[in-house]
Amino acid sequence: MKPFTFPKNFLFGSATAGVQVEGGDRNNNWYVWAEQGHIKDGSDILRAGDHWNRYREDVALLSQMHHQIYRMGIEWSRIEPEKGRFDEKAIAHYREVIACLLRNNIRPLVTLHHFTYPIWLDKEDGFASKQIVTYFERYTEYVVEQLGDLVSEYITINEPNVFLLNGYVAGMWPPGKKDIPLAYRVFVNMSLCHIAAYEIIHRIRRQRHFPGKTMVGVANHLRVFDPLRKGHTLDHFLAEKQQFFFQDAFADYMTTGTLPFPAKLCVPSGYEGHYADFIGINYYSRNIVNAVDLTTFVQPDRPVNDLGWEIYPDGLRILCETFYERYHLPIWITENGVCDNNDVLRVRFIAGHLRAVKEAIDKGVPVERYYHWSLMDNFEWLEGESARFGLVYIDYESQRRIIKKSGKFYAKICENGGCTEDLVKEYHL
Ligand code: BGC
Repeated sequence: MKPFTFPKNFLFGSATAGVQVEGGDRNNNWYVWAEQGHIKDGSDILRAGDHWNRYREDVALLSQMHHQIYRMGIEWSRIEPEKGRFDEKAIAHYREVIACLLRNNIRPLVTLHHFTYPIWLDKEDGFASKQIVTYFERYTEYVVEQLGDLVSEYITINEPNVFLLNGYVAGMWPPGKKDIPLAYRVFVNMSLCHIAAYEIIHRIRRQRHFPGKTMVGVANHLRVFDPLRKGHTLDHFLAEKQQFFFQDAFADYMTTGTLPFPAKLCVPSGYEGHYADFIGINYYSRNIVNAVDLTTFVQPDRPVNDLGWEIYPDGLRILCETFYERYHLPIWITENGVCDNNDVLRVRFIAGHLRAVKEAIDKGVPVERYYHWSLMDNFEWLEGESARFGLVYIDYESQRRIIKKSGKFYAKICENGGCTEDLVKEYHL
């Protein structure tokens, strides 16, 4: 690999999400799901990385690893533990975490919703509820009033498509439904929640003269969909359709408040507008689409991670280019990472994906940031503690943190603004 350097204003960091790292929260829908025995390795969602208590140590790690930016989740279930009752102590805790980041010159990007929500909301049908937009508005208003002076950058919703597919189509995640009409309702509701939150965040920060440029967007889980047989009409057709239903529909509706014809006839109209200041891309892998038996799989002989997902760095360049062409907005890589329990794939993974980002930049795409998933090993949903994505190793028993070899490598990239000749040599890239 040849060395490469990013533009001076490019920012490097990493990402986590509340329940995946904090531990100790019994008040969210994933706690209930875990209690029902759905976690494959039986690990305890209440343990995670104990980040709620150890955030100072974790911010020190971010600083030691030369991060300039950090994406963090805040938990709705902690902030509004009962319907309409906000917990001042919980929001004060998040202010402390954020203040600690700022003291270390690390700019926070705050996620309002990352798969989990309060139990009281679950009892009212979660994102399928008729009241959900009102509830999400109220929560957003409270958060921005309380944190808006310290935080100017927000992700409203993380990966709405993954939330929808796993929770309402495949039934593997809470609320465990396999119900297409319901999924459609959730699709519309989540989009309207985002649109409302986008406007609220901008309005409150403007009215209150909070400092910093307000930036609001969605973290879109994007994949590349390739036909198994190039030139095979049905494979191509199916790949296109999968791509539309899996990711383009959400991205379009949430970014522009409408869909291309004829799909626009199926969603509420009157929202046409501009609801994103950047396109957030969470990128992990691609789908190979085969129309013959309708399967989607990884091609043989392709490199895969420990969960069997294909490692395909060029996909990140392709997605940056495609989504910039579509929306003409700056691109932030809001997640990109690899499940690699022995830390043998991550150095190459990072180098390969960052090079793909650099190639997109060289072609004129304004990719501005890269948040690696994840700062540290964490509670990986159904996989529990058994799937490690961190730059930092966590010994869950003792909660000891150890920066991995890949973490040290990434720290040098952050420090140098790219992959230097020395790094190429030292890591045999
Ligand atoms: C999610 C994270 C998750 C990661 C790895 C993303 O889809 O936002 O919560 O841990 O992928 O699976």
